[in-house]
Amino acid sequence: MEAAAAAAAAELLSFSFSLREIASDRKSLLSQTLKINRLLLISIVFLLSFTLFPISQSQQIPEFCSDVSYGDPNCGLHVSPLKILIKGGTVVNAHHQEVADVYIEDGIVVSVGPNIKVTDDVTVLDATGKYVMPGGIDPHTHLAMKFMGTETIDDFFSGQAAALAGGTTMHIDFVIPVNGSLTAGYESYLNKAKISCMDYGFHMAVTKFDEVVSKEMELMVKENGINSFKFFMAYKGDLMINDEILVQGLEKCKSLGALAMVHAENGDAAAAGQKRMIDLGITGPEGHSLSRPPELEREATGRAIRLASSVNTPLYIVHVMSADAMEEIAEAKKSGQRVIGEPIVAGLVLDDSWLWHPDFTTAAKYLMSPPIRKVGHDKALQAALSMGILQLVGTDHCPFNSKQKALGIDDFRKIPNGVNGIEERMHLVWDTMVESGRISVTDYVKITSTECARIFNIYPRKGAILVGSDADIIILNPNSSFEITAKTHHSRLDTNVYEGWKGKGKVEVTISRGRIVWKDGELKVEPGSGRYIKMRPFGFMFDGMDKVDAAYLSSLRAPVKRFTVDA
Ligand code: URP
Ligand code: ZN
Ligand code: ZN
Repeated sequence: MEAAAAAAAAELLSFSFSLREIASDRKSLLSQTLKINRLLLISIVFLLSFTLFPISQSQQIPEFCSDVSYGDPNCGLHVSPLKILIKGGTVVNAHHQEVADVYIEDGIVVSVGPNIKVTDDVTVLDATGKYVMPGGIDPHTHLAMKFMGTETIDDFFSGQAAALAGGTTMHIDFVIPVNGSLTAGYESYLNKAKISCMDYGFHMAVTKFDEVVSKEMELMVKENGINSFKFFMAYKGDLMINDEILVQGLEKCKSLGALAMVHAENGDAAAAGQKRMIDLGITGPEGHSLSRPPELEREATGRAIRLASSVNTPLYIVHVMSADAMEEIAEAKKSGQRVIGEPIVAGLVLDDSWLWHPDFTTAAKYLMSPPIRKVGHDKALQAALSMGILQLVGTDHCPFNSKQKALGIDDFRKIPNGVNGIEERMHLVWDTMVESGRISVTDYVKITSTECARIFNIYPRKGAILVGSDADIIILNPNSSFEITAKTHHSRLDTNVYEGWKGKGKVEVTISRGRIVWKDGELKVEPGSGRYIKMRPFGFMFDGMDKVDAAYLSSLRAPVKRFTVDA
C-alpha cells in the first residue's frame, strides 16, 4: 500500500517536473497556466502524503537531524514548512540588489517585492541587515569517486549535507566511465546519487574515443541531461587521453552543443617529473609539487585552447591553479575565443608551503593536481577573478582522509590527489573577495552561483531569486563570523585544509527547494530528497557559433575550381 502510494506520488511529482521542463523549453517558466498546474499537482501529492502516510505518534519527525548519517530512521521524512516569507533582507541577484521580501511556496519563488503580506500559516524569517542570495552552485565536485585505488570519503549524502551547511544548494559532479563505458558510468552515478539531499547535475568524463563512445556521448546529451564532457590531459596510465582523442572529443562536443572541459596539465611531462623526483630520493608530498610545475599547466592550457580554437568550439578549463594558466586564458579571451576559466577555493586562498610541512599527514592533505602553487599565484587568481578573466569558483571537492592519504607514505605518487572545499567555498569566497573589498556583493552572487547556472544552461531556474526560480536561497549575515575546523564541519573527512580559518560573513540559513535545511547551526536533511537536474545542450556559449563557422568556410576560397586540360 505504502509502496503504491509512494510510486503514485513520485509519478505525479515527475509529471509536474516534466511540465516544468516543457515550460522552460518554450521559455515560459513564468507562465501562469503552468504555475496553476504545478500547484494543483503538488497539492494532490501533498494531500496524498497526508492520507497515505499519516505521521503517527511513534513516527514523530524530529525538528532537526543533527547527525548526517543517513541510517537514522527518525531523520525527517517531511522536514519543513512549504510556505516561507523572508522579510526585510537585501535580495541580491547578479544583475541587481534591493531591499525586499521573498515569498516561497512549494519550492518555488512566488514573489519578490516590498511588504509582502501573508497568512498565519507561513513561516517568517527576519533577514533585516542580512543578504538574501541564490544558494551556491559548485561546478566541480567528486563525491563517492573511485580514484587512485580508493574512494572519496564523502558520498552524495554526506558531501551534500556539508554543502548545505555551507550555503551551497546544487553541485555538478563528474561521472567517471566504467572501463571506458559512459553508460555504465552514468548508471553507477545515478545509483550513488540515490541518497542525495540536494539538487545535483552531472558532467561526464571521456577516457577513450571510438564509435561506441561517440554514440554514448550523443545519448548522454539527448536523453540523460548531460551537457558537458571532461577530458583529462594528465593522470598518465589512468584517466589521461592524448591529443588525438582530445580533438575527436572536441569535435563531438561541438556537434552536440556540449561544453568541452579539460584538466590541463602535460601528463607525460608530469610523469617524467615524478620519476625525476623519486630518482633524487624525494619521496614526500613536496615531490608532488616539484614534479609538476606551473609551466606544465601553462603548456596544456595553451594547447587545449589552441585545439579548441582549431575546432571552433567553446572550452572550459577546470581548476586553474597558476598565474601561468590564467595568462593563457586571458590571451585567448583577448583574441575573442570563448574560454572559461574556473579557479577553485584552494588555489585562491592557499599556498604550497604546506607540502613542505614536516608532519606527513599535514603535508599530504594539501596534495592535489594541479598542485597548490607558491605564494603570489593566489593573489593573481583573485585579481583575475575580480576582473572577469576567470568567471566562476568551484571547489574540486575530492576528500580523502588521513588513512587514505597514508597510502603514499613512502611514495608521493600513491597519495590520493584531492582536497576538500564544498562546505567552505561560500564563506571563503565571501571573506577573501567581498569582505576584503575586491568585488561587489552582486559579483559574489555571479561567481558563486549565477555564472555556473548560465554556463550549464539552467538559468534562471537556478542561480537567481526571481519569480519562478527554484527556492534555493541563503541568508548571509555580513556582521557574523565563522571559523573552520574539522571538529565541527559536516564532511566525513578527518582533516580540513582550511583548519583554523576565521573570517566574517556567515551563512545563517540555507533553503533548499523551499525547505529550511540549515538554521541556527543545525542541519535538517533527508536522503533521497535531492533531484537530478537535467541540463540542455547549446547554452549561450554556442550562440552565434554557426555564423563564425560560416564566415570561416567562406574565407577559405576553396575548393579551387581548376581547369581540366584534355589529353
Ligand atoms: O587532485 C585532484 N584535482 N583530484 C580530483 C581529480 C581531478 O583532477 O579533478
Ligand atoms: Zn582535474
Ligand atoms: Zn576535479
